[in-house]
Amino acid sequence: MELRPLGSTGLQVSPLGLGTVKFGRNQQVKYPRPFALPDDRAVLSLLALARDLGLNLLDTAPAYGSSQQRLGRLLGAARRDWVIVSKVGEVFADGVSRFDFSYAHTVASVEHSLRTLRTDYLDCVLVHSDGDDGAIFDDGAAIDALRELQRRGLVRAIGMSSKTVDGGLRTVAELDVVMATCNLAYNDELPVLEAAAARGKGVLIKKGLMSGHVADADMVERSFAHVFAQPGVSSMIVGTIDPAHLRDNVAALQRALESLA
Ligand SMILES: NC(=O)c1ccc[n+]([C@@H]2O[C@H](COP(=O)([O-])OP(=O)(O)OC[C@H]3O[C@@H](n4cnc5c(N)ncnc54)[C@H](OP(=O)(O)O)[C@@H]3O)[C@@H](O)[C@H]2O)c1
Repeated sequence: MELRPLGSTGLQVSPLGLGTVKFGRNQQVKYPRPFALPDDRAVLSLLALARDLGLNLLDTAPAYGSSQQRLGRLLGAARRDWVIVSKVGEVFADGVSRFDFSYAHTVASVEHSLRTLRTDYLDCVLVHSDGDDGAIFDDGAAIDALRELQRRGLVRAIGMSSKTVDGGLRTVAELDVVMATCNLAYNDELPVLEAAAARGKGVLIKKGLMSGHVADADMVERSFAHVFAQPGVSSMIVGTIDPAHLRDNVAALQRALESLA
């Protein structure tokens, strides 16, 4: 799989990234079907398959239950083979999500992610928005903290997993990477992708398969084609704990990219 620049960050990422919510959290999630967390063997074999298929991007977060902890324990020395994206701002504990965008929490959260992922740097950290992107920017504390962590070399690129068009546009104007939503049924954030392409900022797409609400294989392929027809997309993050889906997604992505070439 040909790697793509993540905007101007200097990072090169595979156009398909592996989302890891389902490695660590199965409560209060909006997937079509309930599921059990995969055991260590299943996660290890999925990670190995993902590398074999050419993926080099993992998306995780403190809000994804034990996802970071499991990745840290299971990746070991292979951590350096991956570009790891994590987040700050949302914590999920005892079945409940809470948000904290303060300076102190942001620093403590990144330090916790570094320890948990057993690494001395994070490739990219995104503010995990609660939906009020504007308030997070206006307050500024989380972003100031991320800038300081970036200056200290603990974090390479910073951005926001935004939830509004205005928030996405501010992310593109002020930070390195935006994680935005785009899929066959939701295109409100296309102006964010256009602005990112114009400014050379990194774009990660979430919910490209509508969090699993895709009817069939044809819809999966049309979803990839739709996302990659947009300007400036670096990578689409798709979570799966099913090796057959991972293989299907790589094949569908390749067909979609060929059809767009
Ligand atoms: N920052 C945020 O606010 C935020 C919010 C949501 C997500 N994210 C990130 O963005 C990523 C994408 O999020 P998402 O909401 O799209 O959910 P997701 O966590 O990527 O889950 C994708 C769903 O699609 C299913 N799936 C994958 N490939 C499939 C295929 N070929 N056919 C049928 N079903 C398939 C998976 O089920 P199987 O396991 O059965 O394959 C899974 O249930 C997440 O993993 C996460 O990293 C961020």
